[in-house]
Amino acid sequence: MAFHCRTLTPGIDLYWGDCREVIEHLRETGQLVDFVLSDPPYGQDYVNEAGERIANDKEPPLWSVPLMADLLKPDTAMCLFTSPKPKLMGAWMQAMLNAGLTLPYPPLIWHKVYGGVRPDRYFSPSRAHEMILQAFKGKPPRRRWVDAGRFKPDDPDAVMSHWDAGHIWTEPVPRYKRNRRHPTPKPPGVMERAMWHYTSLNDVVFDPFMGSGPVGVACVRSGRRYIGIEVERKYFNLAVENIQRELVRQTTVEVVKVCAERAAARNIDASSDRSLIVDAETASTTSAT
Ligand SMILES: C[S@@+](CC[C@H](N)C(=O)[O-])C[C@H]1O[C@@H](n2cnc3c(N)ncnc32)[C@H](O)[C@@H]1O
Repeated sequence: MAFHCRTLTPGIDLYWGDCREVIEHLRETGQLVDFVLSDPPYGQDYVNEAGERIANDKEPPLWSVPLMADLLKPDTAMCLFTSPKPKLMGAWMQAMLNAGLTLPYPPLIWHKVYGGVRPDRYFSPSRAHEMILQAFKGKPPRRRWVDAGRFKPDDPDAVMSHWDAGHIWTEPVPRYKRNRRHPTPKPPGVMERAMWHYTSLNDVVFDPFMGSGPVGVACVRSGRRYIGIEVERKYFNLAVENIQRELVRQTTVEVVKVCAERAAARNIDASSDRSLIVDAETASTTSAT
């Protein structure tokens, strides 16, 4: 099967195809990446309430770990979502070790608020969390702690302090009322948190199991470059739609900011001056191309 690449804006490249073929192509072109952040099929033959399944989910696609590791630059991180089931989590961790990665830190926990597994199914407490394994090629990337222990959205190179970060990240699972869209959606906010820890502005983030594109959305929000791959056409299209929407949102935010700045400089009301809006539109078009 051939693959197809769509560049939404310079630095945001989405591939429709099998990640094995695309990774081979990336290797041939000498592409390396600064961070792997991905949500592969867990290998548990998951079926949602609408009867939808995930491609390559019968067995965990452990073959992908050395392929992803090969693309990483030295002293970088790989974060993979996985099921908390010990057998599956253990298999992914062993694959990471086999690929020459280190696992010095415990997994992160994504607390998704709404339970996924009913207690009566496994006779165990209901579960509302997934794991995020953290592995490293060489040393963990150097992180710049923020003294005040706060997220600083206007400083894209800063990370949260130990106090804010913790190991349990609570963020509701995205819910699509009218249309469930992707069977296993993850929130972009959790992706953003991982990125703030392990990357800097303009770094290349790689996600070979893109789904509906939450990692790409987080990259657009935080000024990182992105390479995403999805094998299913409908999910590839969904990722294009979601990431494009975020690009437009960011452009709009920029336009409003430029308008406000120029209005403040001239001491006038931005909403009443058409010329400011035209100026700002020009500014945002230039910065988006
Ligand atoms: C667990 S889902 C990712 C969901 C995503 N995090 C989201 O929020 O939408 C894994 C995705 O990997 C895709 N996939 C499975 N095998 C693949 C392969 N060989 N190459 C690329 N994508 C693949 C599936 O179609 C599925 O969309």
